[in-house]
Amino acid sequence: MSDFAELTFDGKQYKFPVITGTENEKAIDIAKLRDETGYITIDSGYKNTGATKSAITFLDGEEGILRYRGYSIEELAEKASFLEVAYLLIYGELPTSEQYAAFEDDIKMHTIVNEDMRKIFEGFPVNAHPMGVLSALVCAMSAFYTGEKAGSDDLNIIRLLAKMPSMATWSYKKSQGHPVNYPNNSLDYCSNFLNMMFALPVAAYQVDPVVSAALNKLLILHADHEQNCSTSTVRLVGSSQASLYASISAGINALSGPLHGGANQEVIEMLEDIKADGGDTDKYIAMAKDKNSGFRLMGFGHRVYKNFDPRARIIKKAADDVLSKLGVNDPVLEIAKKLEEAALNDEYFVARKLYPNVDFYSGIIYRALGIPTNMFTVMFAIGRLPGWIAQWKEMRANKEPIGRPRQVYVGATAREYVDVANRK
Ligand code: SDX
Repeated sequence: MSDFAELTFDGKQYKFPVITGTENEKAIDIAKLRDETGYITIDSGYKNTGATKSAITFLDGEEGILRYRGYSIEELAEKASFLEVAYLLIYGELPTSEQYAAFEDDIKMHTIVNEDMRKIFEGFPVNAHPMGVLSALVCAMSAFYTGEKAGSDDLNIIRLLAKMPSMATWSYKKSQGHPVNYPNNSLDYCSNFLNMMFALPVAAYQVDPVVSAALNKLLILHADHEQNCSTSTVRLVGSSQASLYASISAGINALSGPLHGGANQEVIEMLEDIKADGGDTDKYIAMAKDKNSGFRLMGFGHRVYKNFDPRARIIKKAADDVLSKLGVNDPVLEIAKKLEEAALNDEYFVARKLYPNVDFYSGIIYRALGIPTNMFTVMFAIGRLPGWIAQWKEMRANKEPIGRPRQVYVGATAREYVDVANRK
C-alpha cells in the first residue's frame, strides 16, 4: 500500500502523503494542495473530508463499531458509570479508584450554580425551549468565570460537568410551576439529576435504581461520537481561542437541530402522530419514500453508520428491559418496532442503507423515566458534554490552527457601482 497519492492534471503530476490511523483508516494529506496546484477541494457536508486526527473515539460505520479510547460501547454501557466514561474520554484512561473518587469529589464541590444565573434564567418565558435556555446559560458562564475567577481549563471542565445538569432541570421545574431543587451531594451523578428533576419540597424523593441505571446507560451511549455536527462546531469555535463555555454553548445550539440531536424529540412526536393516525405505519413508510411529502422517518439514517448504529441496538433492548421493569406499557414502542421492521424490509431504505440511529428508541426510555419530550435533546446534551469537552481539550492540546475553510466563488464578477437614480 503506497504512502502517497498521485494527482495528475494540467499536464503535471503531484504527490501528496497518505496517512494511516491506528485502525488502518487512510487519508490523503492535502495541506500543500493549494500552494502546489492552486486548486482546493470541495466536499459539501464534509462527507469525505477529515477535519483532524483524533485519539478519542473510533467508529466503523460499515461494521457498526463504536469505541471510546479503545473500549467498546457495549462493554462501557454494561459495566461503567457515566462519570467513569467522562473521565476516560477527557483524560484518556479509565480512572483508578483514587482518581475516580477525586474526580467525583471535585464535581460535587462545584454543583451549586451562582445565584445570579437564576436571574438570567427567570427572564425566560415559561414555554422557552430548554435547549435555547441551556445554551444561553452555558454561554453566560463565560461571563461569570472570567478575569480572576477564570480558573484553569481543568477547573472549567469540572464546573461544566457539575453545573450543567443542575441548570438543565430548571426549565422543567419552571414548566411545572415547581420550585427548582438544589443539588444533593450525597447522591451519585445520575441520581442527583433525577432528584433535581422530580423531587418536591412536600415529601422525600426516592430515586428508583432502575431509572438511575437506565439514565446512566443512556448518558454513556451519547457521550461522544467523533466529528459529528455539534462536536465539529465545538472544535471550530474553540479553535479561535473562544472559551470552553462559548464553545460548548455553540455545540448545544448545533445539537438542537432536528437533523441532529433534535431528532430524538422529533421521533416521539412522529410516533405519536402515527399512533393518532391509527398506527398506519405503511402510510408513513410511503411518505418517507416520497420526496414531495417533506416527511422523513426521524431517527432513521446516519451519515456514517451504513449498517446499524450499535447504540440503537443497545437502546432498543434497554427500552424493553426498562419498560417491563417499570411496568410501563407504551404503545409507541410497538409502533417503533413495526416501523423498523417495515423499513428494514423495504428496498428504498435498504438501498440507501438507512437504519435506526441512536435517536430512534431513546425517547421511549426517556418518556418512561418521566422526562418530558422537550427535554429529550437536553438529555442528549448532558450525555454528550464529556465528549465535547474531550474533543475541545484535544484540539487545544494539539495546538490546531484556527479553522477557516476555503470556498469556490460563484457570485457576480467585478462590476461598477450604479447611482440609485440610474438603477432599473
Ligand atoms: C445524530 O453524525 C453523528 O454522529 C450524529 C449522531 C451523534 O451521535 O452525534 O449520531 C446523532 O444526529 C443521529 C441522526 C439523527 N437525525 C435523524 O434521525 C434525522 C433523520 N435522518 C436524516 O435526516 C439523515 O439520515 C441524516 C441527517 C442523519 C444523515 O443525512 P445524510 O448523510 O446527509 O444523508 P442524506 O440526507 O443525503 O440522505 C441520503 C438519502 C437521500 O435520498 P436520495 O436523495 O439518495 O434519494 O437517504 C434519504 C435521503 O432523502 N434519507 C431518508 C432519511 N434519511 C436519509 N429518507 C427518509 N427518511 C430518512 N430518515
